[in-house]
Amino acid sequence: MSKQTDFLIIGSGIAGLTYALKVAAHGKVFMITKANEDESNTKYAQGGIAAVMPGSNNSNADQTDPYKKHIEDTIDCGDGLCNEEVVNMVIRESTKRVTELAEWGANFDKTPEGDYELAREGGHSEHRILHHKDITGYEIERALLNQIHSHPNIEILDHHFAIEIITQHHLGIDVNSRTPDITCFGAYVMDLRSGKVETVLAKTTLIATGGAGQVFQTTTNPTIATGDGIAMVYRAKGKVENMEFMQFHPTSLYNPGERPSFLITEAMRGHGGILRTRDGKEFMQKYDARKSLAPRDIVARAIDSEMKHTGDDFVYLDCTHLDSEDLKKHFPNIYQKCLTIGIDITKDKIPVVPAAHYLCGGIKVDLKGRSSIVNLYAAGECSCTGLHGANRLASNSLLEAVVYSHEAGEHAIANFTKIEFQKNIPEWNIEGTDAAEEMVLITQSIKEVQSIMSSYVGIVRSNMRLERAHDRLEILWRENEALYKKITLSQQVCELRNIINVAYIIIKQARERKESRGLHYTIDYPPLKK
Ligand code: FAD
Ligand code: SIN
Repeated sequence: MSKQTDFLIIGSGIAGLTYALKVAAHGKVFMITKANEDESNTKYAQGGIAAVMPGSNNSNADQTDPYKKHIEDTIDCGDGLCNEEVVNMVIRESTKRVTELAEWGANFDKTPEGDYELAREGGHSEHRILHHKDITGYEIERALLNQIHSHPNIEILDHHFAIEIITQHHLGIDVNSRTPDITCFGAYVMDLRSGKVETVLAKTTLIATGGAGQVFQTTTNPTIATGDGIAMVYRAKGKVENMEFMQFHPTSLYNPGERPSFLITEAMRGHGGILRTRDGKEFMQKYDARKSLAPRDIVARAIDSEMKHTGDDFVYLDCTHLDSEDLKKHFPNIYQKCLTIGIDITKDKIPVVPAAHYLCGGIKVDLKGRSSIVNLYAAGECSCTGLHGANRLASNSLLEAVVYSHEAGEHAIANFTKIEFQKNIPEWNIEGTDAAEEMVLITQSIKEVQSIMSSYVGIVRSNMRLERAHDRLEILWRENEALYKKITLSQQVCELRNIINVAYIIIKQARERKESRGLHYTIDYPPLKK
């Protein structure tokens, strides 16, 4: 069975949906997504989207260049590894792209005067984050899907899983080097309801598969975040970089047994919330002059250090001194969620712990979202554009996704008519025997990978820990490659394979970085002096 399309999109978060709306006026769009169409990291975004907007309540903005401070904050946070051309491009595009989101129907909160109501998060020197209460991602996803549904050129298939991108390798050509002449012809896609694998031929393909928080034990990411796109591109010998920079969010709700962890937005600290140890003492002043609003890497490490010294399982975020009605108005989702476990955030301190949250690295792309593989684009969290460097500034990722989906869309529109569909692509032919009982091997291996990564490749690393993680993972890799060939293809075995691949790249690139920088902190190298 095979299908043909001008634009194949893998993933229906903010990156995939934005790109679809861009290219749909020019050709046929086929979008596949592995769960319900709205299930994505995007849906759970809380704090908002950082942008420079006219008509907002930011009186501190530099009047000669309103983009300057946002650019400086992004570069400062990225700890020397941001690509400044990219930072300039993304931040200066922010006004247009966020205005477009609003025109597509995303409602961002406004003041009674009608200006955008801007919030502040860690690493930002001013208020600049547009938001919809504390459910910004849900609102953006809703608005974009609404637009998608009314577009006649877009076909969206949920519960369809991309297994591999198709390249020369599938024509029997041995592609050995990670060179630019590897070409993408589409993808093999499994219908999760029937189990059948289809060949989807495409002139251009966009990978928008999101992040990989599921590689770790404690994460804010939903179960879809298994790094599939990154693993597919790596297996196809495409370039993947900066994978050592996994961002841990300082404050996820401490609620043992709950997975994924519920996020407590950084905007609560922007609103005046204060981090305290269990005995009620403030501690951030010991680590950074910006205290609770220092960049994430610093705050997460500070919490980790306090927990290790005290032996406590969590620290507190204290909002009890803030106006309670105002708190409920700005953070209704968090207020309700905490009530379900007996915490009234207007009266009680919130127990919080760091959790794996955002992958700064990914599929290397240029300014047009082009990967190192011809006719293959990547946008959103699965990509590495150079914007974030060694540490992402809060609320810059939704922004990066809309800017790069726009850029990639423009490039694909200008070029897709020159591309022919590839002929003679073989049907998917990896068939194992039915062995459903081996599910136990898959579920236990996933837990083992997560345990290895959280124990040895977390907030604080060392050469010995990384070496141990590498050796343990190698055994799991070998076992799973054998299992993958033997048992009936399933989403679970593919995701396990992807998780192992992504964990391997994180460890490999972490071992190659012989310094402590940004999110990669190792006790073997002193932190860089600023
Ligand atoms: P996603 O939104 O994750 O979408 C990925 C899509 O790909 C999904 O539809 C998924 O099902 C699909 N997919 C994956 N693999 C496959 C496959 N093999 N086959 C088919 N489909 C597949 N960022 C901010 O800027 N501001 C915030 O306030 C903010 N808050 C956050 C809060 C939480 C709890 C989390 C988890 C993240 C937050 N982030 C925030 C980060 C931000 O939400 C993400 O980086 C961003 O939404 C990623 O968008 P995306 O389109 O790249 O990927
Ligand atoms: C948050 O709301 O704290 C998350 C923001 C982000 O990850 O950018």
